[in-house]
Amino acid sequence: MNLSPKPGVMDIHAYVPGRSEAAGAKRVYKLSSNESPFGPSPKAIAAYEGAEPALGIYPEGSARILREAIAAHYGLAADRIVCGNGSDEILTLLANSYVRPKDEVLFSAHAFSLYRIVTLANSGVPIEVPTPNLQLDIDDVIACVGPNTRLVYIANPNNPTAGYVTASEMRRLHAALPDSAILVIDAAYAEYVRRNDYEAGIELVSTSNNVVMTRTFSKVYGLAGIRIGWAYCPKHAAEVLNRVRAPFNVNIAAQHAAIAALSDRAHVETALQHNDVWRMRLTEEIRALGLRVDDSVANFILIHFPDKPGRSAADADRFLMARGVIMRGCASYDLPQCLRLTVGSEEANLAALAALRDFMAS
Ligand SMILES: Cc1ncc(COP(=O)(O)O)c(C=O)c1O
Repeated sequence: MNLSPKPGVMDIHAYVPGRSEAAGAKRVYKLSSNESPFGPSPKAIAAYEGAEPALGIYPEGSARILREAIAAHYGLAADRIVCGNGSDEILTLLANSYVRPKDEVLFSAHAFSLYRIVTLANSGVPIEVPTPNLQLDIDDVIACVGPNTRLVYIANPNNPTAGYVTASEMRRLHAALPDSAILVIDAAYAEYVRRNDYEAGIELVSTSNNVVMTRTFSKVYGLAGIRIGWAYCPKHAAEVLNRVRAPFNVNIAAQHAAIAALSDRAHVETALQHNDVWRMRLTEEIRALGLRVDDSVANFILIHFPDKPGRSAADADRFLMARGVIMRGCASYDLPQCLRLTVGSEEANLAALAALRDFMAS
């Protein structure tokens, strides 16, 4: 009996989630998972609680009520939307559905680690596009495209580097792909971007046959804990994902919470305005401490530490943890000299700034 898993599986390094505990600290500030400091809208919480009578029965299988609410909100066709247990599930389903052994899957260096995991899980070949200065150059992606390219995952904005690809550059990439490849635009942080030359991907999906955009309720909508994501796809891709996904993959309480969250525009605006103000303040104040911080369009920033004893990212991390400030170590993104800081509540941001100031002065 040979119980070896499929080729590639044992090359996977399991996903490392952001930490949530800081042993011994009196007050803990979790700034490690890009969650919203505002949490969900009160309307979403009420809708979640209101779902109680439906808990004992199977939901309608295709998340129809949620797909229709998303379709109405964004002006999309409901039958081209597929919902998932987080956008993680959709990103996984795309690989499960399309990647054949030895197919090549492209993504940038320092990208969200799930892309590599789902590629290897399907015996595909991960191709990492180098990003020497941490900003993705579309010509470098195009240079990696070949006849075996099957999926191209582009996180836009990218986690953890916090930069973005402009709409025109994304179109240029799409134009360079063979029809047999799918461009997957992972727009988990789309709501936070305030740039005129950015598009989340809806237009490109609408006007092409091989582009899928994924979105999530985990970030600005503050619903990471109940796991809801969705994809906008060409009709043929929606039909494929609907064959492969689990029958009731989005639970009914999550669907009701997400529908209510969409309707609370004020809650989202409050979160976005807070993020604009604090993303800039954190960036400027941390740069003033002498640390490199890359420009961010998302709800997190990437901080670079010098590779010097006593000043490294690992040293900073230990110091911050002792103060209850939990950032995201980036070794699993191949950026061991960096920490990623999520924009948190005012109190958490001030605690992070004070701890970093003391670290640099220590
Ligand atoms: C780039 C990117 N894509 C997708 C996700 C997954 O989000 P979820 O599965 O919570 O929808 C994350 C979460 O951190 C992310 O950073």
